[in-house]
Amino acid sequence: MEKLTHLQVYWHDKPSGPIPTTILVASANFTNPSIGFGSIIVIDDALTEGPELDSELIGRAQGSYVLASLGQPPAVIMSMTFAFTAGEYNGSTISIAGRNTVLSAVREMSIAGGTGVFRFARGYVQMRTHFFNFTSGDASVKYDIYVLHY
Ligand SMILES: *[C@@H]1O[C@H](CO)[C@@H](O)[C@H](O)[C@H]1NC(C)=O
Ligand SMILES: *[C@@H]1O[C@H](CO)[C@@H](O)[C@H](O)[C@H]1NC(C)=O
Ligand SMILES: *[C@@H]1O[C@H](CO)[C@@H](O)[C@H](O)[C@H]1NC(C)=O
Repeated sequence: MEKLTHLQVYWHDKPSGPIPTTILVASANFTNPSIGFGSIIVIDDALTEGPELDSELIGRAQGSYVLASLGQPPAVIMSMTFAFTAGEYNGSTISIAGRNTVLSAVREMSIAGGTGVFRFARGYVQMRTHFFNFTSGDASVKYDIYVLHY
């Protein structure tokens, strides 16, 4: 029987510090650099149970996103896989893709599929920014994952 699982995890984008988990790998020589259009970012971000980066690590979000909006609102197109490394989902993954209008209070992206416990996965995620440091770019975002699987 297909079942609906609701998971809540915190995703930590961290471009700052000695070990950044968020790396800008390419950017365009664009006339308006402030919007960053065309930038490509690769991430290996921590996923934790609680809102703080030092709360229990439950996996990594590995993938990339591109700054893909010329105008307003700012938007990134994301493609990443949540690889769980603890608890009942250890070894399973959920792949997420979609558009993220980062300044909106609530955003939504699609679940593209999954492995392990999440084989045949479909569903959606909702994201809410918990913390954002405009100076460093560090961000913590709460992900509510609604996944149908067997
Ligand atoms: C960046 O673009 C500007 C304006 O088009 C140009 O003058 C400059 O040579 C470019 N720089 C590089 C490194 O391509
Ligand atoms: C997760 O699974 C791996 C591989 O089976 C195992 O080595 C590791 O100890 C597990 N981690 C936890 C926190 O259960
Ligand atoms: C934001 O980042 C700056 C630069 O890394 C740092 O000095 C500052 O303490 C940070 N603020 C918070 C609230 O974490």
